[in-house]
Amino acid sequence: MNRKKYQVDSNGYYGNFGGAYIPEILHRCVTELKDAYLRVLDSDDFKQEFAQLLRDYVGRPSPLYLANRLSEKYGCKIYLKREDLNHTGAHKINNAIGQVLLARRMGKKRIIAETGAGQHGVATATVCALMNMECVVYMGETDVARQHINVEKMKMLGAEVRPVTSGNKTLKDATNEAIRDWCCHPEDTYYVIGSTVGPHPYPDMVARLQSVISEEIKKQLMEHEGRDYPDYLIACVGGGSNAAGTVYHYLNNDKVKIVLAEAGGKGIHSGYSAATIQLGRLGIIHGAKTLVMQDEDGQILEPYSVSAGLDYPGIGPLHANLATQHRATVLAINDDEAIRAAYELTRLEGIIPALESAHALGALEKVSFRPEDIVVLTVSGRGDKDMETYLNNVQMC
Ligand SMILES: Cc1ncc(COP(=O)(O)O)c(C=O)c1O
Repeated sequence: MNRKKYQVDSNGYYGNFGGAYIPEILHRCVTELKDAYLRVLDSDDFKQEFAQLLRDYVGRPSPLYLANRLSEKYGCKIYLKREDLNHTGAHKINNAIGQVLLARRMGKKRIIAETGAGQHGVATATVCALMNMECVVYMGETDVARQHINVEKMKMLGAEVRPVTSGNKTLKDATNEAIRDWCCHPEDTYYVIGSTVGPHPYPDMVARLQSVISEEIKKQLMEHEGRDYPDYLIACVGGGSNAAGTVYHYLNNDKVKIVLAEAGGKGIHSGYSAATIQLGRLGIIHGAKTLVMQDEDGQILEPYSVSAGLDYPGIGPLHANLATQHRATVLAINDDEAIRAAYELTRLEGIIPALESAHALGALEKVSFRPEDIVVLTVSGRGDKDMETYLNNVQMC
């Protein structure tokens, strides 16, 4: 097997996907970042501070929990990787800490971020409060309304939240505005991207910072099962960061099947969907060549999902490559299936998952497991932010 097949190459490509398609004005910023990130991430000083904050501030390692009643229901052994138990309630904090530590080492004073569900915005605002950095978060107006608790948290943490009114006022539009801001402040500003999207080196950098998830799964499975790999890894994908972290150390292990759950919305052919891997064609979005939902003229289509963190019309280049190489199976989970799965986990295990994570749970009924299969499913976040959506959609279950 070509061991490099799934990893980024020196030009920032995963097979046909990736690269850095950026305006001239960002060239210097992106080159500066590309030159700095591996040097910093591999330095002892960074590694030590990052590991210490993940342990003492985030509360890592996050538990790998054997979900007995869920296992019984699906006829296999299901472990949940509990990213929902992290400080701020999701995996996003792992990446935010890493990038703000990098920004400081690059001498940047001002942090900007985009956010969909608000989890990445809250994580970034949290780290900025901790490290006394100025923070501006761009968020689509639609998401500001459906995730308003997270908006209030960001403000309480001292960040400025800028509502975005272009497009359908969700994650894509927030990302556009953040990139515009970066173009205007290339000298002092660091852009903390929240997922494995954007121009190289972001997808690789975010995947590396989230790879702590699979590093821990290996150790924890060894303790529980006497072997360090599962038969299945399951994660939801918006831009792809929790999935990238979950699979990172298993990419070259053929024994491990990878299942990615994307947002089917109201159904992939309904015109209201965010199932980018299945509906997308090769295109460029936010600086990366990847699968993009687009019309015949190449205009980006507005995605839809009940979940604010998954309605993005692109996908990380790492995942586009995993899907086209058939290394990962991609399933579209519709809104109603995700909501049913969230209620099921809540009733069976007493865990209210984030709506995004509920899509990963919705994949369980679509896979035929053998009784001896060991499954690790990442619960990327907790459901507190989604209570209103759950209550408004209770009729779906
Ligand atoms: C809890 C949670 N899970 C998953 C996602 C999707 O992002 P990603 O695909 O980068 O993990 C989000 C995005 O906001 C989120 O808040």
